[in-house]
Amino acid sequence: MAQKKLSGEVFLPSKAVIEKATVKDWDVLNKRAQEDYEGFWSAEAENLHWFKKWDKVLDESNKPFYKWFTGAKTNIAYNCLDVHLTTWRRNKLAFFWEGENGDFKSYSYYYLNKYVCRFANILKSMGVVKGDRVTIYMGRVPELVFAMLACARLGAIHSVVFGGFSVEALHERLEDSKSKVLIVSDGSYVRGKIVDLKGIADEALARAATVEHVVVVKRTGHDINMEAGRDYWYHELCALPMGNQGCEAEVLDAEDPLFLLYTSGTTGKPKAILHTHGGYMVGTYASLKYVFDIHEEDRYWCAADPGWITGHSYIVYGPLLNGATSFMYEGAPSHPYPNRWWQLIEKYGINILYTAPTAIRGLMKYGDAWPQRHDLSSLRLLGTVGEPINPEAWKWYHRVIGRGECPIMDTWWQTETGMFMITPMPCVPLKPGSGGRPFPGLIMDVVNEDGESVKANEEGFLIIKRPWPSMMRTIYNDPERYVNQYWSRYPGYYLTGDSARRDEDGYYWIIGRVDDVIKVSGYRLGTAEIESALVSHTSVAEAAAIGLPHEVKGNAIHCFVILKEGVEATPQLGEELRKHVGHEVGPIARPENIEFVSSLPKTRSGKIMRRVLKAKALGVDPGNLSTLEE
Ligand code: WTA
Repeated sequence: MAQKKLSGEVFLPSKAVIEKATVKDWDVLNKRAQEDYEGFWSAEAENLHWFKKWDKVLDESNKPFYKWFTGAKTNIAYNCLDVHLTTWRRNKLAFFWEGENGDFKSYSYYYLNKYVCRFANILKSMGVVKGDRVTIYMGRVPELVFAMLACARLGAIHSVVFGGFSVEALHERLEDSKSKVLIVSDGSYVRGKIVDLKGIADEALARAATVEHVVVVKRTGHDINMEAGRDYWYHELCALPMGNQGCEAEVLDAEDPLFLLYTSGTTGKPKAILHTHGGYMVGTYASLKYVFDIHEEDRYWCAADPGWITGHSYIVYGPLLNGATSFMYEGAPSHPYPNRWWQLIEKYGINILYTAPTAIRGLMKYGDAWPQRHDLSSLRLLGTVGEPINPEAWKWYHRVIGRGECPIMDTWWQTETGMFMITPMPCVPLKPGSGGRPFPGLIMDVVNEDGESVKANEEGFLIIKRPWPSMMRTIYNDPERYVNQYWSRYPGYYLTGDSARRDEDGYYWIIGRVDDVIKVSGYRLGTAEIESALVSHTSVAEAAAIGLPHEVKGNAIHCFVILKEGVEATPQLGEELRKHVGHEVGPIARPENIEFVSSLPKTRSGKIMRRVLKAKALGVDPGNLSTLEE
């Protein structure tokens, strides 16, 4: 099909890429999906296994609590594992793993299934049944994948807490989900040091009462406390006979919950986004298939952490549903040297690499020589996610890592959406810094305050105008907040919380969050979490957190603190407060800078005006100040 001339800087796919691409014409696929949206999704669903087929593809009877594939019976873990065991994929590599210290493990589909069943039986023996919540708090190790799939197999709801979080963050999530079991690793390796995850978990457990059993996976082998009757070593449980039989996957409703994933929102505590077996499965399966176009012989590497949505959808579920071979690496990209990732790509012949702008910028900083010393010719496709990618980083990634030949899939999506929402496909022309157009069939828009579409290239609020299968179903324990936060601003439409513009070619350009979410190195944090950690310190009366531009991290956290009467503002105290936030929320939330102030700008109703603080810090015009109290 003749391409219309696109505006701005455009990178066209090479002939070789188009030849290999499964989808050769994006417009044809999109047209089909737009014209028969439910037909498109049911055709995708047909590629997966259902114990019983659906009565209805999309059920809109109780908006905005949409349901998908109602009446159907399935199990996502069955589709990740069992379906492959009766085909040649039984002997295919499901995933392989390298530790930061060079340890190596690999699992065929056959072998992975054994491990998952054994883990499921361990959970069963602890009384875990369908609907129970299980929290998982580990580094990037294979057992994390086994644990998630084991929960899914039983119909238990997993809640993975990122290993970079700390005591209070873990406590809050244990308490809100009322988890019965916690699965934890003794520690994790981060840049050559051991993070004492079990120690952090012990502190969190002392604050949370619902956990009955703790399964401890040995990774670092450092000294930890094991509480008799509560804590059990995973490897010892594995050695018991009850752990070694198979384990039938529970026959579940398409709408049965699969997992909770806590994420930061506009105000208050992190909220538990709830995803289900059926719709989430169809969405992650189809989106990964079309966008990263994984062929049987490919080795795919999503370098995210399983503790975030990217890991859930595109390290664990999406690749296994597609019968892919994927790689997981435990450590950081630049440890011990900035060639670590390039070395791994060369060593394992990785074909597809999916990472985040912060990692790209971080590695770009070290110059071209590090990647150029390695043979990266196995790479065919690249990907990025998490925050807007600046065109310089995009071009570096394209030219130096991708030899100027690998298209970059800049995928925009959210914990809430479960799957890619705005994304290229290998066959489409790319513009550095833009993710292109919505995934086939989706309808998105950029609107003003009144909900009217804005003109091309004007900034506005990004909304989604049609439900999609892998959408969140609710906020666990708080359906009201689900309605208020996402569906009330523009009734009938989903509010993303991002601002964006759309150019004359229909390409979307994400500008950033318009709420109190700060993206630090692609990690999603809320001002409220950081502020409440600060005020939990005995010296602090009030606090406000904002994000300021940072060359590598995208944003860095800056805090303004009012101390209690009589407490002296010293650099030592500033340092102590930074550490305190690190201890309570996690190292990723540690503020870059603490500034002591005597007052904070507030609205007449007492809301801190972070926008004003940010403008002041950046030395720009703070805009409308009519609601400012003083
Ligand atoms: C941002 C991550 C620009 C955006 C999968 C969104 C992006 C938030 C991109 C969700 C991208 C994600 N370009 N911005 N390609 N991908 N974002 O829930 O602000 O951790 O709302 O999900 O990340 O973050 P979350």
